[in-house]
Amino acid sequence: MIQKNQNNLAISQEFWKKEGKRIDWFTEYTKVNESNFSQGHIEWFSDGILNASYNCIDRHILQGNGNRTALIWQSNDPAVSKKISYQELLDQVCAFSNALKEINIQKGDRVCIYMQMIPEAIVAMLACARIGAIHSVVFGAFSSTALENRINDSQCKALITQDFGIRGLKLDIPMKDNADKILDNCPSIEKVIVVNRSNNSINMQQGRDIFWHDFVMNQPRTCEPEKMNAEDPLFILYTSGSTGKPKGVLHTTGGYLVYTSYTHQKVFDYQQGDIYWCTADIGWITGHSYIVYGPLSNGATQVIFEGVPNYPDFGRFWQIIEQHQVNIFYTAPTALRALMKEGNSWPQRYNLDSLKVLGTVGEPIKSPEWRWYYEIIGQSNCPIVDTWWQTETGGILISPIPHQTELKPGSATHPLPGIFPEILDENQKKIEEANKTGFLVITESWPGQMRTVYGDHQRFIDTYFSQAPGNYFTGDGAYVDEDGYYWITGRVDDVLNVSGHRIGTAEVEGAIGAANGVAEAAVIGYNHEITGEGIYAFVTLMTGIDPSEAIKNDILASVAKIIGPHAKPSVIQFVSGLPKTRSGKIMRRILKKIAQNESDLGDISTLADPSVIDSLLKK
Ligand code: WT7
Repeated sequence: MIQKNQNNLAISQEFWKKEGKRIDWFTEYTKVNESNFSQGHIEWFSDGILNASYNCIDRHILQGNGNRTALIWQSNDPAVSKKISYQELLDQVCAFSNALKEINIQKGDRVCIYMQMIPEAIVAMLACARIGAIHSVVFGAFSSTALENRINDSQCKALITQDFGIRGLKLDIPMKDNADKILDNCPSIEKVIVVNRSNNSINMQQGRDIFWHDFVMNQPRTCEPEKMNAEDPLFILYTSGSTGKPKGVLHTTGGYLVYTSYTHQKVFDYQQGDIYWCTADIGWITGHSYIVYGPLSNGATQVIFEGVPNYPDFGRFWQIIEQHQVNIFYTAPTALRALMKEGNSWPQRYNLDSLKVLGTVGEPIKSPEWRWYYEIIGQSNCPIVDTWWQTETGGILISPIPHQTELKPGSATHPLPGIFPEILDENQKKIEEANKTGFLVITESWPGQMRTVYGDHQRFIDTYFSQAPGNYFTGDGAYVDEDGYYWITGRVDDVLNVSGHRIGTAEVEGAIGAANGVAEAAVIGYNHEITGEGIYAFVTLMTGIDPSEAIKNDILASVAKIIGPHAKPSVIQFVSGLPKTRSGKIMRRILKKIAQNESDLGDISTLADPSVIDSLLKK
């Protein structure tokens, strides 16, 4: 029997019952938490009725804040930026909502959004939320094949994209062309809506494709928000797991909105009038929770940025902070490492006095970049919130609270109020001892928790509720130190974290295996100076095929084609065989040591063929 702390459950009920009121409900909930981890069932505020887009826009206007700036869009071009007020956002969202209805997008239909960081992407997400359609945003750097798989998995009826993407010196990322390559294989797509971002010419298929401008033209600027049940789906976002097929993480409306609103306010100490900037892309959960739903539900004013940190030079982030007087800045350790390497002269060119709170997300932040962030960017004046969370958790679970939590560089510090983590050993016993690493689990549900894997509820149960029955299994290792601080040690499954992006080893192995001449591949992560983890691939070739630069290039091209350029391995080593147990399981532990240049390979007695070690060591 699982011994649960009944006290925590009671605290959680009371806490979220109150906190749920921070958003507007058309019909107030009477039920709070009806989740049951043993059954893989998550349910919050189940009799409440609301609309996410109403909460993110209308209610601020009704309070007299229609003229407040919602978005400060900073384009890739430093000379071009544009402000969008809450009223303008409402006009655009309503027009787009009406247009979606006109092409027969209904409540519950899936809509795929494949865009870069332009305001229309946010308008499209909120319009889906307004009419009850479920958005599935696919990161703009994903390949055509990755887009195809995601569209087909959730049977999207429409695709919203742009002609070209514009980032840094790349002025012509062919988004629409990428989509065209696969749309014949996506029978569920009826309409394709295309933003003209670049004025370059593209192919438009008559009857199917329509420019955004024409789509919204003549549409009324009002649209009644759909009455949504708290547990109606809000969006699907695909993320990698330990098998080859990405999981469609499904979040619902009420709990997710309460949770993102709560955490955005609490963790960033967001005060009315603050200028907030999160550098994430809307293609990831950070963009969903801390660019769209959290900040907008709180009526925030925020910068959204189309470009990259090194264009036109390595001072871009700091220049934008000065130009737009940013108070709260949220980014990833990998970006900090890359910028720190370029020296202090870049940030020192700009006045960063507006900054009040700094945040990081995606991976553990280590001492050098923490110090640099704190001293050079924050001028030893700004707390750093190291926020631990996951696509699945919907929002931040473990993080300091500015000016309340005493910081320890590299530690995400403590769970937020309302969150109950534990560290378990391999027998699922709670580790009470300080500094002893185990599996990080969460013992009680929280409103932002994912509800299911789209179309595969069994996978949801197997992945998150079977390893440590009665708990949510995070897949991360962690320990608690003698002062009660949480330290995250990284993934305990076959999932890599490259530049804060989650990449499944099985997915990369599959893509390498699709290259001509490849027999088998094993992919592992190794410590990488800038990206945190780098991708290291061990590859065996078909008999009669010799290693060559050409095959390496084929492998890289195959990964870029099937997943996207961000998943390309940085090291490819050809070997005569992979280290396997007698039952055929690849011994990744050995490969990891080889990739890290460790000489002691540990116990190799269970290897089926010990002679493979020689070829592995010949780099
Ligand atoms: C994994 C989740 C959460 C949005 C971005 C990534 C790692 C995340 C931290 C942190 C140490 C972290 C974990 C987690 N992670 N934040 N502050 N310290 N590790 O979302 O792609 O779902 O990845 O990122 O390993 O499980 P994601």
